[in-house]
Amino acid sequence: MRRPASIAPPKGKLGVLTPGMGAVSTTVMAGVELVRRGESIPVGSLTQMGTIRLGKRTEGRAPKIKDFVPLANLGDIVFGGWDIFPDDAYEAASKAGVLSPHDLAKAQKLLKKIKPMKGAFDQNWVKNLHGTHVKKGKTKFDLAEQIREDIRDFKKKNKLDRLVMVWCASTEVFLKPEEVHQDLPSFEKGMKSNHPSIPPSMLYAYAAISEGVPFANGAPNLTVDIPALEDYAKAKGVPIGGKDFKTGQTLMKTILSPGFKARMLGLNGWFSTNILGNRDGEVLDDPGSFKTKEESKLGALEYILQPKLYPELYGKFHHKVRINYYPPRGDNKEGWDNIDIFGWLGYPMQIKVDFLCRDSILAAPIVLDLALFFDLAQRAGLRGIQEWLSFYFKSPMCARELYPEHDLFIQLMKLKNTLRWMMGEELITHLGAEYYD
Ligand SMILES: NC(=O)c1ccc[n+]([C@@H]2O[C@H](COP(=O)([O-])OP(=O)(O)OC[C@H]3O[C@@H](n4cnc5c(N)ncnc54)[C@H](O)[C@@H]3O)[C@@H](O)[C@H]2O)c1
Repeated sequence: MRRPASIAPPKGKLGVLTPGMGAVSTTVMAGVELVRRGESIPVGSLTQMGTIRLGKRTEGRAPKIKDFVPLANLGDIVFGGWDIFPDDAYEAASKAGVLSPHDLAKAQKLLKKIKPMKGAFDQNWVKNLHGTHVKKGKTKFDLAEQIREDIRDFKKKNKLDRLVMVWCASTEVFLKPEEVHQDLPSFEKGMKSNHPSIPPSMLYAYAAISEGVPFANGAPNLTVDIPALEDYAKAKGVPIGGKDFKTGQTLMKTILSPGFKARMLGLNGWFSTNILGNRDGEVLDDPGSFKTKEESKLGALEYILQPKLYPELYGKFHHKVRINYYPPRGDNKEGWDNIDIFGWLGYPMQIKVDFLCRDSILAAPIVLDLALFFDLAQRAGLRGIQEWLSFYFKSPMCARELYPEHDLFIQLMKLKNTLRWMMGEELITHLGAEYYD
């Protein structure tokens, strides 16, 4: 990957399209509107609140990220989306119950105007939902063509300069890459012959790439993480990334486990269980969708702790993840972790974490940051997988010959160094020997 010679300025309006207009998506829409109106501040958003150190520690240069790199302004964002239910964003947000009626009322005018386009849906991939607002088409290819048309119409109607797409729809049933996913001709042939291993999310991703629209995947589905679409994105000069927003429990895992490893503390086991009662929880109550989520949640510890390099410390740990659908909690998830660690001479210790979190409150700023950074990547001429945005994902995509980096602190360093690199600033290594000359 070559350093961008120049970055096109973010002129005009940016369309942010979300397949799925449920809890996460409507929380971003409402939140951005509240921030735009000066009613709130964008807590949790690195693009809006984060700073970046430039040069030596003695220089005192630490601009806000949004003042350092040319990001789109929140005022220039136009939201749109698809859903398999016809509720507008206000109704959907009211049903999701994440934000208070008081907050929603302040964004009501905007939310009411955002009506979902009909979704491309297949019940085989999300067993617990029975959509009524769905596209009809003879083949999957026809459906992808309809999504492409939606994208073009949305762009024209709203007089947009650029678009990005962030998948905020339900988690699909577990799928492993097959022959049909290996190259673009097989994939296109598969869509035309209704191949059973092409889920709806891949149609959205294909449509986005075909229209030159960056695509980020917020769920653990394979979606754009297949050679056919990865190669297609590179060929079309489109940035892509995923998978699965890193929010509650996995965020905690990738914060805590690098600390254990840094101090060479051993791990016997990590038991994680969750209760949640939103529609996402209902979808994950189906074993097929849960399997997709489970795979995504299990990976982080293995990669961070490197059991092959540290067999005495991490060679035998037991890792279990459970998600229980429990309607009374709504979007307010509770994630419990019991962590069995050991120290000097193998003496055991325990850590308990009880995170009473709010799923969509944690996910919303991630969607905003991804939209803005993917748009930046596009304007900087970056194409294919954007590994520098791993920071936001539970199961980060990376080049085929690499293993993914899960450590949140390495991910952040990589993200900030990529911004410095893009802008021609010196990278920060934290060596600092020159201060002692
Ligand atoms: N909230 C979090 O913290 C978090 C974290 C990581 C990942 N995610 C993932 O983000 C996604 C969204 O989460 P949510 O809480 O907003 O869920 P949600 O159930 O509230 O919203 C998902 C929406 O997608 C719609 N949908 C399903 N299939 C569709 C299709 N083919 N086309 C268009 N719309 C479709 C559903 O009708 C629903 O309205 C889920 O896949 C979830 O696993 C969420």
